[in-house]
Amino acid sequence: MTDQRERVRDAYDDLAETHFAERSDRPPEATLLDEVRDRIDADARVLDAGCGQGTPVSSALAPQYDVVGLDFATAQLRLADGVVPRARLVQGDMTELPLAADSFDAVCAFHSIIHVPVADHANVLSEFARVLRPGGVLLVSSGGTDWAGSNPDWLDSGVEMEWSFPGPEETRRLLSAAGFNLQEWWIVTDRLGREGDGAVLDPDGDDAYEDGEPVGKPFFLAVRR
Ligand SMILES: C[S@@+](CC[C@H](N)C(=O)[O-])C[C@H]1O[C@@H](n2cnc3c(N)ncnc32)[C@H](O)[C@@H]1O
Repeated sequence: MTDQRERVRDAYDDLAETHFAERSDRPPEATLLDEVRDRIDADARVLDAGCGQGTPVSSALAPQYDVVGLDFATAQLRLADGVVPRARLVQGDMTELPLAADSFDAVCAFHSIIHVPVADHANVLSEFARVLRPGGVLLVSSGGTDWAGSNPDWLDSGVEMEWSFPGPEETRRLLSAAGFNLQEWWIVTDRLGREGDGAVLDPDGDDAYEDGEPVGKPFFLAVRR
């Protein structure tokens, strides 16, 4: 495991409760799960990659589908176990999924690959393609701009957190290279730790940008070729 991934895992173990308290269980991006529901059957298997505390993906989908929540942070999985008793939880790393090929109908990865070193994003997307059956659906968020950095006191927790991601254009290229056809994408405003409900915006609309920068995180819906 690279140093950044170890540090991110340890940081989530240290601030899991703080993050849980700040994270809405019904953020605006949860509405995008309907796009996944529309494309899978009633008996579908869904992977929540970087499931964290189990919200909003596993908690929303586990009542309907066979959901596996995967995360590498023990404290996050402990929270998820309390929140989503019906999901099967697996401890593992997204860059090397301990899961069989072609075994899922959908993968959702909300706000998780943004913590993986940018050099490993291609690898993570290839792992998502590997575990999805052909025609399987991916809903993944990444970064609004090309950026890597850290916050030494994230969410006033006293814990340092790190992020690393390319801009949307490069993520679209990486998705295609990993074997996905992009269907749609959106800009979702990020309200973690702030007031407001947030919004899901059309990336072609003027309100999705401020001073040329996206006002939130891109969410990509893609299908495995
Ligand atoms: C911001 S939280 C998001 C949790 C949840 N998906 C949500 O939307 O609130 C990011 C999660 O990704 C997990 N994560 C980050 N990098 C990971 C990796 N390489 N493998 C597995 N989990 C990872 C972290 O432990 C953390 O629980």
